[in-house]
Amino acid sequence: MRTESGLFIVFEGGDAVGKSTQVRCLVDWLTAQGIPTVQTFEPGDTSVGAIIRRAVLDPATRSLSARTEALLYAADKAQHVAEVVRPALAAGSVVVCDRYVDSMLAYQGAGRVLALEEVERIARWATDDLRPHLTVVLDLDPQQAVAGKLGKDRLESAGDDLHARARAFFVALAEADTEHYLVLPARLPIAEIARRIRERVKLLL
Ligand SMILES: Nc1ncnc2c1ncn2[C@@H]1O[C@H](COP(=O)(O)OP(=O)(O)O)[C@@H](O)[C@H]1O
Ligand SMILES: [Mg+2]
Repeated sequence: MRTESGLFIVFEGGDAVGKSTQVRCLVDWLTAQGIPTVQTFEPGDTSVGAIIRRAVLDPATRSLSARTEALLYAADKAQHVAEVVRPALAAGSVVVCDRYVDSMLAYQGAGRVLALEEVERIARWATDDLRPHLTVVLDLDPQQAVAGKLGKDRLESAGDDLHARARAFFVALAEADTEHYLVLPARLPIAEIARRIRERVKLLL
């Protein structure tokens, strides 16, 4: 379902690959063009979403069943799409979102114990099957991205295997649907990545 009048752009990739940096670059550029733009992220960019995010990431949560975790992320997405994304698209805005369904598929579906198809069914239901017009995947070896990063939260502390599988998953999604994905090497200079993203986004405006 890609019927809204606005434009939905998502950034995906592992931890610390530069998603927030590029979200900011793109939003600044769109805003400078006078294009109504909404910057947002998942999980946590609604009131209830912030509570859900805290619950999931807090080390005090300790072991969370995989199904519980998936449902919490799905609940965050359901609220985020209903409260933030759909209304902004309906108003004709460009919505730039830091992580979306693919992250849930990569981390709850492809990297853990749940079947990908099950996680996808839940995620699509939660988001009412709203799909981005473009997903930018920032691709980087997870060892390089998280190396030296201190104070890891519960998910960042998960095995290297999870992050390696998530990386491969993002790239595979992109390769299967080049019309809706753009993969960029995440350690090109920040300005060069931003320029390549703008070139692609211009085609959609
Ligand atoms: N292209 C790049 N090359 C080198 N360092 C980068 C690049 N993009 C971002 N960084 C740096 O990497 C770190 C993580 O960036 P951030 O945008 O917060 O990543 P994410 O949101 O994916 O976790 C920051 O210190 C940022 O300045
Ligand atoms: Mg970030």
